[in-house]
Amino acid sequence: MFVYGVPTTNPFGREREIRIVSNFLRSGQPVGLMGVRRVGKTSLLLASLRQASLPYIYLSAEEFTSGKSFDFHSFISGYVVSVTSTLYSLAGYRVLTEKGRSWLRQLRDLVGAIKVTFNIPEVSATLDVTLEKVERRKRLEEELPRIVDLPQIMAEKFGVPRVVIAVDEFQYLNLAKQSMPNIFHVLRSRWQFHTRVSYVISGSLIGMMNELLNSRDQPFYQFFYLMKVGPLPPDVSRDFLRRGFEHYGVRVGEEEIDRVVDYVDGLPAWLNLVGLKVVSEGKSVNQVLDTLTQDINVVNAIEGDLRKLSPGARSVLKRLAMLGGQGRPRDLGDDRWGVVRALQQLIRYGIVEREDEGNYRIVDPLLVHYLRGN
Ligand SMILES: Nc1ncnc2c1ncn2[C@@H]1O[C@H](COP(=O)(O)OP(=O)(O)OP(=O)(O)O)[C@@H](O)[C@H]1O
Ligand SMILES: [Mg+2]
Repeated sequence: MFVYGVPTTNPFGREREIRIVSNFLRSGQPVGLMGVRRVGKTSLLLASLRQASLPYIYLSAEEFTSGKSFDFHSFISGYVVSVTSTLYSLAGYRVLTEKGRSWLRQLRDLVGAIKVTFNIPEVSATLDVTLEKVERRKRLEEELPRIVDLPQIMAEKFGVPRVVIAVDEFQYLNLAKQSMPNIFHVLRSRWQFHTRVSYVISGSLIGMMNELLNSRDQPFYQFFYLMKVGPLPPDVSRDFLRRGFEHYGVRVGEEEIDRVVDYVDGLPAWLNLVGLKVVSEGKSVNQVLDTLTQDINVVNAIEGDLRKLSPGARSVLKRLAMLGGQGRPRDLGDDRWGVVRALQQLIRYGIVEREDEGNYRIVDPLLVHYLRGN
């Protein structure tokens, strides 16, 4: 079946990765998944959580950002509500959370509800202080270590052997430094003692993830086992398309299947989109590919990514696309420093990769087609 947009808990051709990640989750090894936008990180994460069959908490740091700001109070509320409600329900207490309601209001209700059902003094004290400070939007420096420790403490109290905390789009926590400059130090220094909590993070802005996890001077240096989530290999992509078309009873020739994989590589989001358009619009593969860069889903997704870039980075990206998707700095403009800065930003955002011998390449071939056509 083809799906566009929402993550799947049953990603095609990722059996090996799912097995590895779920084993790590069971054993407590922290894992970091890195991969470009739309490559299937969230799907791999969800599938691994499911296969590990452990209780888990899933949060996406992206949900708490708008532009360059990060709503730290809301993030903390979300974290506390998710952790507490998951662990309390494992202990047999019913705690309801509601999608769509503000995390702060949920925290208020939760703290009230927990007091009348079950009371662990140290947990209640932390919840009380957190609620008070979040309501008044006060700084949370002093409480942060205890808040971070909540899952470990509650897992011990309730006899839960292991729980997983998954933080998607982890690199956005960088923005939280504005309200909590030492956030990564606190996380790292507490997480390393959590014997009952497994941590898995994922991120799409690969350059930023690298800076965060792979630099010696960063608190998370060598904490996670890092796994790169790449596009599906060509034969797996072809297999995926073939089976999809078969499922819908649509006949598509081998050359057409090859053409799709040449055009979008093994990026699952685009393979699904092309598949969906062929089966739902009744067009041939060639017709779909010829107009793919004008498809509203493609335009929205790509424009959303481009908006985050500086004008300089956008123009270097465009030149790179005009060169066929790869090139050297000297071919990208006369302002050497401008080009270097632009490339740095494009790498931080995971849009461009540096290859051997100073060659730079746009990762997503559809982005190349898009920029060449616009
Ligand atoms: N292995 C796969 N087989 C089939 N479909 C997949 C696979 N992996 C991902 N998809 C589909 O591709 C799309 C993108 O997947 P997903 O949201 O997991 O990627 P992501 O890397 O988390 O993206 P983002 O960077 O936007 O967060 C989704 O519609 C998902 O259902
Ligand atoms: Mg995702």
